[in-house]
Amino acid sequence: MSKIILTGDRPTGRLHLGHYVGSLKRRVELQNSGEFDKIFIMIADAQALTDNFDNPDKIRDNIIEVALDYLSVGLDPAKSNLFIQSAVTELTELTFYYANLVTVSRLERNPTVKSEIQLRNFETSIPVGFFTYPISQASDITAFKATTVPVGEDQLPMLEQAREIVRKFNSTYNCEVLVEPDALIPENSTCSRLPGTDGKAKMSKSLGNCIYLSDSEEELNKKVMTMFTDPDHLQINDPGKVEGNAVFTYLDAFAKDEDFAEFLPDYKNLDEMKDHYRRGGLGDVKCKKFLQKVLNKELAPIRARRKEYEKDIPAVYDILRKGTEVAQAEAAQTLAEVKAAMRINYFDDEALISGQQEKFNS
Ligand code: TRP
Repeated sequence: MSKIILTGDRPTGRLHLGHYVGSLKRRVELQNSGEFDKIFIMIADAQALTDNFDNPDKIRDNIIEVALDYLSVGLDPAKSNLFIQSAVTELTELTFYYANLVTVSRLERNPTVKSEIQLRNFETSIPVGFFTYPISQASDITAFKATTVPVGEDQLPMLEQAREIVRKFNSTYNCEVLVEPDALIPENSTCSRLPGTDGKAKMSKSLGNCIYLSDSEEELNKKVMTMFTDPDHLQINDPGKVEGNAVFTYLDAFAKDEDFAEFLPDYKNLDEMKDHYRRGGLGDVKCKKFLQKVLNKELAPIRARRKEYEKDIPAVYDILRKGTEVAQAEAAQTLAEVKAAMRINYFDDEALISGQQEKFNS
C-alpha cells in the first residue's frame, strides 16, 4: 500500500515555535526521509472560516504567511504538495456525504470540539459549520487516502473520528474505498505542547505569548528576556525550579548537547545545567542568553529561506496553485470512487442505463 501523508494548518495567524516543534519540523524530516509516496500539506482556510466566517480578510491575508512559513522551514514543493483547502471543492462534497454517517451526539462527545466550543463561548449557539468541522477534517484526510497524519496531540480526537467514518463508510457500502489513517504525534511530550513565553499552557496569538518563525533576531531576543521563569528564584543563589519554568521547557524542546559546547561550555548538557539551577547559583539572565542563542541558531536557516521566498510572492502563490491542481485531481479520483460505492454515479454507469431500459421494455 502507498504511504501517503496529509496534514495542514488553519491560516489564522503566522506559525510559531509551538507549531514548529509540534509538527513542522517532523514534517520536513518525513518529507526528506523518502519513505512516502505522496505528501499533501494543506492550508485549511475553509476550516478556519468555521469560526472566522465574519472575518474573511484575516484568513485571506494569513494564507501567504503560512505558505512562507511552510517553505521557510524546508517544505519543498518538489516533494510536498502545498495546497489550499477551499480550492479543492471535492472536499466539501465528501463532507456532505460523510455527514450521513455521523450522529450529533458523537460530534458533541469529540473532546477537541467540546473544549473549542468553551474557548469560543459558543455554548449557547454553536454554528453548524463549526460543529461539523471534524467531518470536514475526515474528508481532508480520506480524499487523499492518507495513511499518516502528522499532527499535535490535540488533534487525536479528530483522527479517531475520521477512522470511525472510514470504517462506517466501508462497511455501509461494503467496499474498501477509504483508508484508515494513523496519527503521528511528537515523541517528546514537551514538543507536543510548548507553553507560551508567559508559561501558560499553550502559545496562542490572543494571549500574546508566541515566538513566531518570522520574528527577527531582535524580536526573539526581547521575547526571551521577558520569559516566565521561577517566580521564587529571586536571587541568583536561591534554589530554582525547572518544572513549569518556560525557559527550561524551551531548552528541553530545543537545546542539543552541541549547543552547550558551542555557547555554554560550563555544562556538558541540559541535565548538568538544570542541576546547577536547582542547587542555586545560576541566574535567569544567563539561562535566557543561552536560550536566545539556541533559538536563533535553529531559526537562522529558516529566516534566510523566508527572505528569499519573500522576494517573489507571485511565485509563492504559483506554488500553491500548482499544488492545488495536483490535490484536486487526487481528490476527484477518490470522490468518484466514493460516489460509485454509494451508487450515485448514474451517468458513468452504462449497465444502469441499459438495465433501466430493459426494465421499461418488458
Ligand atoms: N484542525 C487542524 C488544526 O487546527 C487543521 C487541519 C484541517 C488538519 N484539516 C486537517 C490537520 C487534516 C490534519 C489533517 O491545526
